[in-house]
Amino acid sequence: MAGMLGVGGRRSRRTRYGEAMPDPIPPTIEWRDGAVRMIDQRRLPGELAYVDARTVDELCDAIRTMVVRGAPALGVAGAMGVALARSTGEPLGTAAERIVATRPTAANLEWGVRRALSADDPLSEARRVAAEDMARNRALGALGAPLLPEGARVLTHCNAGSLACAGYGTALGVVRAAHETGRAPRVWVDETRPMLQGSRLTAWELGRLGVPATLVADSAAGSLMAADRVDCVLVGADRVAANGDVANKVGTYSLAVLAAHHSVPFYVAAPTSTIDLACPDGSAIPVEQRAGEEVAALAGTRLAPDDTEVENPAFDVTPAVLVTAIVTENGIARPPYTETLAALADRPVAKRPSTQARNT
Ligand code: MRU
Repeated sequence: MAGMLGVGGRRSRRTRYGEAMPDPIPPTIEWRDGAVRMIDQRRLPGELAYVDARTVDELCDAIRTMVVRGAPALGVAGAMGVALARSTGEPLGTAAERIVATRPTAANLEWGVRRALSADDPLSEARRVAAEDMARNRALGALGAPLLPEGARVLTHCNAGSLACAGYGTALGVVRAAHETGRAPRVWVDETRPMLQGSRLTAWELGRLGVPATLVADSAAGSLMAADRVDCVLVGADRVAANGDVANKVGTYSLAVLAAHHSVPFYVAAPTSTIDLACPDGSAIPVEQRAGEEVAALAGTRLAPDDTEVENPAFDVTPAVLVTAIVTENGIARPPYTETLAALADRPVAKRPSTQARNT
């Protein structure tokens, strides 16, 4: 059934009586009544609740505590944060620096901030960033779907779905497009320790979309591949370097090594807003370190002994040599990535700014 553009650029399908069918997953982030309204992702799947940020401080807090998360959604949050600063009279430059410093790995955050900063009307620009994100994800979904064989058993990590974006999703956008076009994919959902974005968010989204999904412990991936039960790994990205190295949720690198060992294709789906051509390779990607408590505790209950030392990198870097292809809205990049990504990325190479975030 042909799609049409609904409110706020959200594409909706129509029933046979002509009414628009609402997207089963509500918008992740919107500007509403002078505030940034976000789904509170910390409370899913138990409750679909919202947080309104009315100041830059409140927005920074929402980003840090992962009310809103996922690289493309952070791009929208960054742009809307600049709009908030404009509306509250806060100096835009310092507001921008504070927003960018909240989470350093996602390329989109700084990219969204810069988009809004460079516009006469930051709010209109932020809304454009959101609408474009949805359109990019739909386009990359349609391009990536044919990579999945009929009835593909896809293994994914973290949440690269609608909740991680303005809407539709990147890796899950590919799955969704495959589902919508009758290719009948099934998904192995990594639970994604320590924040459980897989079991809490990806399982919730796929359930709403009617895509068959099976939750597994992260450590099950190897044995599933060894038993020939995985046709491909498909993940999102927080930052893609010019040479094709990919930063994504910690644990992605281990999956890529396993996939290479078992000759399973390893695909990355990311809009070009996640490609950072100014970053030559993965060693230049800042990896966010998060509180040890996220690893030492589970659902608010401390499990590790009190004096246990904890290391909690939120992301890891998968070297380009392990990446079979990178699906963008402009086309599918394959090695040599230095050439193919440069051809697909739609933004000029900017000089890397020196913000606090680069040094964290
Ligand atoms: O810490 P998170 O939940 O923000 O990490 C998110 C991821 O790692 C996603 O895979 C990535 O941002 C791509 S989302 C389309």
